[in-house]
Parts: sequence; C-alpha cells; structure tokens
Amino acid sequence: MKVLALESSCDETAVAIIEDGHLLSSVVSSQIDIHSRFGGVVPEIAARNHLEIIDKIVGSSLEEAHLTLDDIDVFASTMGPGLVGSLLVGLSFAKALALSTNRPFIGINHLYGHVYANFLKYPFLRPPFMVLLVSGGHTEILVLRDWDRIELIGKTRDDAAGEAFDKIARLLELGYPGGPAIQEAAKKGKVLYHFPRPLQEKGNFDFSFSGLKTSVLYFLRKNPSASVYDVAASAQEAIVDSLVTKAFDAAGDSGLKEIAFAGGVASNSLLRDRAEKLSEETGIRAYFPPVDLCTDNAAMIAMVAYEKAKRGLFSPLSTNAVPYLGLDVF
Ligand code: KG4
Ligand code: ZN
Repeated sequence: MKVLALESSCDETAVAIIEDGHLLSSVVSSQIDIHSRFGGVVPEIAARNHLEIIDKIVGSSLEEAHLTLDDIDVFASTMGPGLVGSLLVGLSFAKALALSTNRPFIGINHLYGHVYANFLKYPFLRPPFMVLLVSGGHTEILVLRDWDRIELIGKTRDDAAGEAFDKIARLLELGYPGGPAIQEAAKKGKVLYHFPRPLQEKGNFDFSFSGLKTSVLYFLRKNPSASVYDVAASAQEAIVDSLVTKAFDAAGDSGLKEIAFAGGVASNSLLRDRAEKLSEETGIRAYFPPVDLCTDNAAMIAMVAYEKAKRGLFSPLSTNAVPYLGLDVF
C-alpha cells in the first residue's frame, strides 16, 4: 500500500510517500527564512506560501519516489492541530487529489504524527511506551497505550518547551527559531546561573516554562553585561533538566521501560545526551527519531495514515481543519 501524505500545519510544507511503512520519499520546504524577520510565524503569510508551493512539493515527492499520482493508493493530510489557514491548504489539496484519482482520503492528527515518527526509525517498537512530546506548541508526557490510544500523563501549564526556547532566544537577540540558536550559543558558554525548575513535587508530571522566561528577563535587566552564551547555556540546562527528569520519573512510576522522544525540541543535543545518560542509569531505553523527523515533516503523517488505512479508518471528503485537535482523536 502506497500512502502520500501532506503536512502544512505551521511553517513547513511537506510531502512524503511510504510503501507498507517504508519511506520512499520525504520532501520538506521550510518557510523559516520568510518568518525569521518577524521573530515568529505569521499565520497569513504561512498559508499563502503553502498555497504557492504545495503542487511543486507533491511533484518533487513523486519524482523522488519514481511514481505518478496513479500509483498512490491513499492520500492523507494533517487535519489539526495547527494554524487554520495553513491546515486548510494541505487538507484541501489532499482531498482534491483523492477525489480526482478516486482513492480514499484520511485526515491525520499531527500529534500522533510526531509520536509515530519513531516507528520510521524503530519499526520494531510496539505500544505501550512512554512519550515525551516537545515541540513549539506542545509539551506533554504521554503513554501510547495502543496504536489508536494516547493517555496524557502530564503537560505544560503555560508555555511549551519550544516556545520557551523561542521566547528566551528573542530576549537574548539570538534569532528564530530559538531552539537551534540557543543550542549553538550554549556551546560557547557555561552553566553559571540557576534558573527555576517549577513543579518539582514527586509525582507531579506537569511543566511550567513561563516563569523561566520571566526570570531570564529580570536576570538580564539586573546583569546587562552577563555573557549571552552563559545565559543561553543556563536557560537550556533548566529546560532540558526539567523535561528529561520528569520524563524518566514518569516512566519509572508507570513501570514502562521505553521512552520515545518526539517533536522539534527532541532534536536538542543536550536533551539527547542527558536522556542517554539517564537511560544507562535506569535501564529505561530512550528512542530518538532522526533530527529531520523530529521537526515537522510528512513522513510521520504518512505513517499514521498507513496504520489507519490498514484498519479501514478512512475520512469523509467533508473533513475540516481542527486547529485545537486534541489527543482523543486518532
Ligand atoms: O515540532 P516542530 O518542528 O513544530 C511544532 O509542531 O511546533 O517544533 C518547533 C520547535 C521550535 O520551538 C524550535 O525552537 C524547537 O522546536 N527546536 C529546538 C531545536 N530544534 C527545534 N529546540 C531546542 N533545540 C533544538 N535543537
Ligand atoms: Zn509539529
């Protein structure tokens, strides 16, 4: 079964094709350069750019896989969560492809996509396992109980981890996206300052990052000559420490022996190092998708579509975009 999937929920226009769970092609066109001068994603500009290039990205993906549209058995697209205008572009395009080729269409939950990115690298992985989903919009500790069921263990009460990286990078004038910028700046600095790690009580698996951002802001006002690199290293340390400690504590608590990491922040090198260290200490195995499958891509969306298609879970052509789609929808 060949699945072609589209992903356009934020600022990446992505198309991928998989055959029976194996990746044939994955093309991602990022709009980062367009949005960086605004310090974040501008929704209307994002939607308009998806619209301009989506047909070319579909063409490139088919070419890379040496296929034509007629070879595709199922078309899929992210239906949420995400920016509504952006979502509508991929969704409408995928539905039109399905309609014109007389093939089924499947709407996909982007959050399941991030989790399923792990199956592309680790095809032997089977639910249940723990997941730390950390992206620009999400910070959640989850259990993938079954292929179609996610249980929420803990979540951020305010900013997502990626959002914290982005906001702190803006305070430090390091540019957008903030995660990779802070990671690079931190390499030139030292962890000299202690920034807060809230909600430390045992058994509390929620996160809070808005206090960290405020604390960095006050620190910079008080210490204008502090090295940006040292502040970046110290802020990264606080975010990563909070994420990794809680994820491993949650796994220990639940008795699960595997943690899969997902989302853009899972490409952070300090987070990967820390998780590997804790993995050796605890015997809980840590799985990381390759960096290009951590950030938004369509291969992960195609993987969910493949599992849904196997179960006959197709979607009607009336399927709409759902900007705040939750974890309850497979
Ligand atoms: O998963 P993603 O590409 O898009 C969303 O669905 O949000 O995640 C984007 C987020 C951004 O906030 C970005 O700053 C962060 O992931 N990010 C990183 C790194 N690479 C991307 N954060 C920390 N370290 C990185 N290396
Ligand atoms: Zn994402």
